[in-house]
Amino acid sequence: MAKSSELRLTRMPLNNGSSHMPALGFGTLIPDAAVTVSATRDALEAGFRHFDCAERYRNEHEVGKALQAGLAVGGIAREDIFVTTKLWNSNHRPERVEPAFEASLERLELNDLDLYLIHTPFAFRPGDDQDPRDQNGNIVYDNGVTLLDTWRAMERLVDRGRCRAIGLSDITLDRLLPLYESARIKPAVVQVEAHPYLPETELLEFCKEKGIVLLAFAPLGHGMRPGLLEDPVISAIAARVGKTPAQVLLAWAVQRGTAVLTTPKTAIRARENFDITALPEDAFDEINRIRIRQRLNDVVHTGSPGFIPRIQST
Ligand SMILES: NC(=O)c1ccc[n+]([C@@H]2O[C@H](COP(=O)([O-])OP(=O)(O)OC[C@H]3O[C@@H](n4cnc5c(N)ncnc54)[C@H](OP(=O)(O)O)[C@@H]3O)[C@@H](O)[C@H]2O)c1
Repeated sequence: MAKSSELRLTRMPLNNGSSHMPALGFGTLIPDAAVTVSATRDALEAGFRHFDCAERYRNEHEVGKALQAGLAVGGIAREDIFVTTKLWNSNHRPERVEPAFEASLERLELNDLDLYLIHTPFAFRPGDDQDPRDQNGNIVYDNGVTLLDTWRAMERLVDRGRCRAIGLSDITLDRLLPLYESARIKPAVVQVEAHPYLPETELLEFCKEKGIVLLAFAPLGHGMRPGLLEDPVISAIAARVGKTPAQVLLAWAVQRGTAVLTTPKTAIRARENFDITALPEDAFDEINRIRIRQRLNDVVHTGSPGFIPRIQST
């Protein structure tokens, strides 16, 4: 378990043998272009060195602009930041993977990438429409490509030195297992929703056993209220240790051995979310004993992002 204030600087070794990912990451899923630029710049200034992007967020250009400006002003080298982006569902056909990758790099103003993820295991109809629907509003999937076909194209990007590591997102253990077995280059990172209401314990154990980093999104429950930020256990611990509920939730995520993404949109929140310190063991255990179970994002079942706000107690 990482100690005290060092927690925010935790770096997780990747199974490619050559790189480390900062455990605390800044997520760029921000709909507004101007806010994307200011929030990315604020995150860099606050100390974040891990940036999670996606072609689906349609703001790689703004993130790239903010990163280039921030690196120059702060005297920060490219090697000091870790940048991820993701291949969207409509680009799963192997011949579409490299063009999608290169287009993302160009928008991000980068020469290479630290990590490239398959955004979801669902292939949509290939093309420029990111959300293909039939006349009844149903998603049009693509049955002409398998996840392994797409993975092989991702492996070729690593072979050619275009990105240092590859992984998957929004995947269940059931789907991950066969891919893991067949992969020539094993996934380095798996990005999924994970928080005290959805601890993904089985997946985390598998990842730890195989040297895969589990990268948690929605650590603050997407900020939904009521929700994790108002949970009585989290609030009581926050008061006890003199931290905010957000800081408690982020610390818990890193202490249990996951990397984590958060999306503060102001400079104050960026500093708050970066300023995490290790929780005392009893507080950590108390969070592990929370029994509410809630999945917030349905993307793992459909490939299409969407919120499902409902709570189940067990
Ligand atoms: N792979 C996937 O399918 C997938 C899906 C979702 C997200 N992600 C990634 O994960 C990243 C994180 O997204 P997230 O929604 O999980 O972020 P998050 O940080 O857990 O939640 C963001 C929400 O929390 C609020 N918030 C942030 N810091 C706070 C604080 N200190 N106190 C109180 N509220 C706070 C924000 O409010 P304000 O809006 O008011 O600032 C916002 O509503 C995304 O940017 C993206 O990179 C990936």
